[in-house]
Amino acid sequence: MQMLQSSIGRKLVMAATGMCLVGFVIVHLLGNSSIFIGANGINAYAEHLHALGPIVWIFRVVLLGLFGLHIFFGIQLTLENRAARPIDYNQKKNIRTSFGAETMIYTGLVILVFAVYHLFHFTMHLTNPEISVSALPMDALGRNDVFTMMILSFQKFFISSIYVGAMVTLLLHLSHGVQSLFQTFGVLNGNTLPIMEKIARAAAIVIFVGFISIPVSILLGLINV
Ligand code: HEM
Repeated sequence: MQMLQSSIGRKLVMAATGMCLVGFVIVHLLGNSSIFIGANGINAYAEHLHALGPIVWIFRVVLLGLFGLHIFFGIQLTLENRAARPIDYNQKKNIRTSFGAETMIYTGLVILVFAVYHLFHFTMHLTNPEISVSALPMDALGRNDVFTMMILSFQKFFISSIYVGAMVTLLLHLSHGVQSLFQTFGVLNGNTLPIMEKIARAAAIVIFVGFISIPVSILLGLINV
């Protein structure tokens, strides 16, 4: 607990939780990509996930805890940094920073709003219940038809735009965030190679392209029911 009173302690929590969240996002992307195999890919994947039963709930609680810690310390560090540098615009121009770095708190909050919408949409089936697995018939093998739910959702331009917009925000957040977590861990072992910056940006771009490929392919009619 003493550790959390220091700024580096809190940065470490941000980096560690951020790393786990990136891990989740990558696994989620790989799982979602099974939609490119067709109904047999994504419906089988979703069924296996749900068959894990109580493990799914343990996983959800851990994920919520990670999100909670990351958001709490993110807001706290931002407020502290602002209070510590009451600088005017002339000085601000000289500080080496990037658009991604300056907007971390805003992109983070947009991702939070997206995550809530996303849960309402695909997990709780509240926003478009008429095209959710709760309303759709089971697939030919008696599984929840996640495939058709995703197709019917992303065929709606409005829904696809929300997802693509959120992924642009995620791209901005990760391109600075991953670099920043490398830096936090790197400072500890004296390793702050600029190559890390490139790896971070590349990872953010791969995640972005991977995610948007799903709504975009569906909108273009490349994947269809
Ligand atoms: C184009 C982008 C995305 C697509 C197509 C997508 C798709 C899905 C689908 C279909 C589900 C429901 C799975 C099921 O009930 O079987 C789901 C759940 C979920 N997604 Fe995404 N997702 C996307 C992006 C994201 C991002 C960026 C995050 C993190 C910020 C995220 C976090 C979650 C979470 C936390 C769940 C709930 C898992 C659970 O039920 O425990 N998703 N997603």
